[in-house]
Amino acid sequence: EIGEAVEALLGKLSLADKVGQMCQCMASNFSFGGAVASDPPEKLVAEGRAGSVLGAFDLGRVFELQRIAVERSPHGIPLLFNNDIIHGAQTIFPVPLAWACSWDMDAIREACAVSAREAAASGIVYNHGPMVDISRDPRWGRVVEGAGEDPYLGALIAKAQVEGFQGGTDGQGSLRDLDTIVACLKHFVGYGAAEGGRDYNTVDMSEATLRNVYLPPFQAGIEAGAGAVMNAFNIYQGVPVAASVPLLKELLRDELGFEGVLISDYGAVDEIVQHGHARDAKEAAKKAVDATMDIEMVTRAYDHIPRLTAEGKLSQSQIDNAVRRILTLKYRLGLMDDPYRYIRPEREAEMHFSESHLAASRALASKSIVLLKNDGALPLGGASGAGGRLEGAGDAVSLPSTASRDCGPGGRGKLALIGPFADSKDLLGPWQFSRFGHETVTLYEGLVAAGYGEDRLLYAQGSGVGTPIDGGIEAAVAQAEQADVVLLALGEDSGMSGEAASRMRIALPDAQLRLAEAVAATGKPVVLVLTNGRPLDLTWFDRHANAIVETWFLGSQAGHAIADVLTGACNPSGRLTMSFPLHEGQVPVYYNHFRTGRPLTEANAGEKFISKYLDGPNEPLYPFGYGLGYARFEYGELRLDRETLTPGGKLEARVTVTNADGPSGVETVQLYIQDVCGSIVRPVKELKGFAQVALAPGESREIVFAIGESDLAFWSPAAGYAAEPGEFRVMVGPNSRDVRTASFELLEA
Ligand code: IFM
Repeated sequence: EIGEAVEALLGKLSLADKVGQMCQCMASNFSFGGAVASDPPEKLVAEGRAGSVLGAFDLGRVFELQRIAVERSPHGIPLLFNNDIIHGAQTIFPVPLAWACSWDMDAIREACAVSAREAAASGIVYNHGPMVDISRDPRWGRVVEGAGEDPYLGALIAKAQVEGFQGGTDGQGSLRDLDTIVACLKHFVGYGAAEGGRDYNTVDMSEATLRNVYLPPFQAGIEAGAGAVMNAFNIYQGVPVAASVPLLKELLRDELGFEGVLISDYGAVDEIVQHGHARDAKEAAKKAVDATMDIEMVTRAYDHIPRLTAEGKLSQSQIDNAVRRILTLKYRLGLMDDPYRYIRPEREAEMHFSESHLAASRALASKSIVLLKNDGALPLGGASGAGGRLEGAGDAVSLPSTASRDCGPGGRGKLALIGPFADSKDLLGPWQFSRFGHETVTLYEGLVAAGYGEDRLLYAQGSGVGTPIDGGIEAAVAQAEQADVVLLALGEDSGMSGEAASRMRIALPDAQLRLAEAVAATGKPVVLVLTNGRPLDLTWFDRHANAIVETWFLGSQAGHAIADVLTGACNPSGRLTMSFPLHEGQVPVYYNHFRTGRPLTEANAGEKFISKYLDGPNEPLYPFGYGLGYARFEYGELRLDRETLTPGGKLEARVTVTNADGPSGVETVQLYIQDVCGSIVRPVKELKGFAQVALAPGESREIVFAIGESDLAFWSPAAGYAAEPGEFRVMVGPNSRDVRTASFELLEA
């Protein structure tokens, strides 16, 4: 039925009308980059020269522009309204790198469903998200928007996000539902591999890396029914992706079967010229359309389409195919029946920043926190299990005696809350446009709400984020000296990660390091509470702080969630999805690397001609999958039910996990596999499964992982996607480093 309606409408459109549908304009002068269209949006929309609009941040503006489209444009075709709903519309959730650390697909799906509900009530029907780029280089600011370094976990999270935004599971959601919005997988593909971690920089990678590492989240998102895809800014094999027929037409459309709308990133069609792959905007437009790019975001290279068709350089059917996909989406959203159906002020009032949405944000925020170190200083209320100091992270340093057990909310001990993030509302992170930012719960407010009266909560800002403040360190030291425990709230502000926010140094700014040194010199126990959007070099803190709590940007309820973890009301369960380097010079450092011909082992560490650094270890400070809690979990022996696997069969790996000491908690039991010898070399380990298990004190549970041939498959130039017979190692553990190992053999078919 939709198909017939689309064809009927298509038949009435002139070429100029069609080009209009293929152009997106901004709703205002706001710009995500340099490029802005020459004509104001009202004019473009009234003349039918824009089919979608980016950046309408309030309902009034959506209504205004939609009315112009419906009442004044040549065919009255309603507009699509697009925005970046990356981790919330009005209720802000943790940034995606944080929520990935929850490893909780239901909670992530729910966060996206809430975000979709809030956005759709304001007329925003087409998301510029989720961002599903694999990222291995923390210098790149956009790591904050993605799920981290692992393709398996990234694929699961991509699926959960698409399901959350579009509704339903396994592609069964309905875009017509007023509470859903179109998910747009971005940035197809390879953007996370920008050289040097510098945004928009060159990418150069093999097809095997593309397919085995960067593609899986996109595949999963497409299988889940994502309605749209956005291109990556980078080149692939020398061609800007916006113009890449092999990537966009052949891989995305023909091979992966993507039938939805393909949109260029902001200015990316024009940038084909800047890259040096087209002489001018006209040639850029031809190349983008040849690659099946349906919508050009903001720039106007597509105004050349009529000339290009007149000259026979583009065919009418290429244009029709693009417009068909765009109109189909408008029909699927129900906009063609009622252009104003998503404009619902009463729904906004009912649900924006509602109690239930805030509760969902707080719950996910608590699950996203990763406890990186704890010598027993946390929880502040006591009752901690062993916690445990990280082994192998440098020389032991003597730390001050840990927290007084009297520092919980009901105790008498005093806390000194020090640092630029102690009472800051900059806890939402990049890519959010909430009008409720002023209601963000600060850490100070969270602690007060948790029961700390002013007499027990000493405060000093100590320093700005990037610059010292006069007398700041002295005031902070004075407060620390009066306290039993210092909470040092340091980090990056929200402008220091996100798009166009790459950093050469992934340490805390110097002003904060000086503050930390002075506070540590008081000899008081120090708990570092971090707000930031990327893995940082924390080696100094690992040696000098008693506990380290990675909170990322946790969103609207940040202060409550952090207080819950500090006090022990919540037992932290987050696990890292990106490795934290021991030193900036290791970057990029990720767990699923190849072995090399001269791998470093304990036995050969003293030799010279080995793949290693002269001045430090190869291993990161905190590896992928790592995180502590207040309970201590013990792993039993890893058992496989057989030594060989026949193709098509299954093998079971079993391990018993026990909550040996401490309060109830959630453990994330992780399964890794290594293909020992392949036609192309395989990573030292790859995540292939995990189980989250809640265990009461003293409780044990047997975890069973079923392993089949598809878990062993990878892409190689010779065989495509296939598993190769031979030896495999199975590894199970609490993170990618501390694993138990067993082996089996995959037999020939
Ligand atoms: O969606 C973003 C994209 O990720 C980066 N450039 C700007 C776009 C605006 O929507």
